Amino acid sequence: MYNLVVFASGNGSTLQAIIDAIHNKILNSKIVLVVSNNPDAFALERAKKAGIPTYIIKNKNYQDIDNELYEVLSHYDINLIVLAGYLKLIGDKLLSNYTIINTHPSLLPKYGGKGMHGMHVHKAVIDAKEKQSGVTVHFINNEYDKGNIISQTVVDVLETDTPETLASKVQAAEKIQLVNVIKKFETGEL
Ligand code: GAR
Repeated sequence: MYNLVVFASGNGSTLQAIIDAIHNKILNSKIVLVVSNNPDAFALERAKKAGIPTYIIKNKNYQDIDNELYEVLSHYDINLIVLAGYLKLIGDKLLSNYTIINTHPSLLPKYGGKGMHGMHVHKAVIDAKEKQSGVTVHFINNEYDKGNIISQTVVDVLETDTPETLASKVQAAEKIQLVNVIKKFETGEL
C-alpha cells in the first residue's frame, strides 16, 4: 500500500478528488492522515466523512510547525506528502525527510509566489488578459511555488471567462492531473 498524507487549508475539493480516486480504485493508495492549519477547513469534514484521521496544527510560526509536524508524522509510515490547497511554507525537517508535492492553479513560474493562491491567481490571470492558464504539479522546496515542475496542464482562457469560470475549469483539470501524478509515484514511474 502506498501511504499518503494530504495537507489542506480550505474547501478540500482537491483532497476529495484523491479520496474519490482511491474509492474508485484509480489509485492504490491510502490517505493515512489529513493535516490542516485551519480548524474550520471543510477539508477536515471531508476527511472525517471518509474515515481518515485528521490533525490540526497548533503552532503558527513555520519553524515551530516544522518541529511539530516532524514529531506527529514520525508515527506514520509515509510515502508521499501532497499539498492540496495548503498555504504555508514547509520547513527544513519535513523537506529533508519526505517527498512533498504541491498543486498550483497556474502555469508556473507565472502567477506563483507568496499571496498567489486560489482565486487571487485566477483574478490576476483574467486581469492580465492571458489566453492560457492551467495547472502545475511540482516538488516543494523552501520557497513558494519554486520547486522543480513535475507536470503542467494548459487550460484555454476565453474572453468570456471570469475568475470563477476559470477557477472551475482549472480545478477540473487539476484533479485529473494530480491523481495522474500520484499514480506515477505509486507505480515508481516518478
Ligand atoms: C486548488 O486549486 C489549489 O491548486 C490551490 O488552492 C485550491 C484549493 O482548493 N492552491 C494554491 O493556490 C497553492 N498556491 P480546495 O481547497 O477546494 O482543494
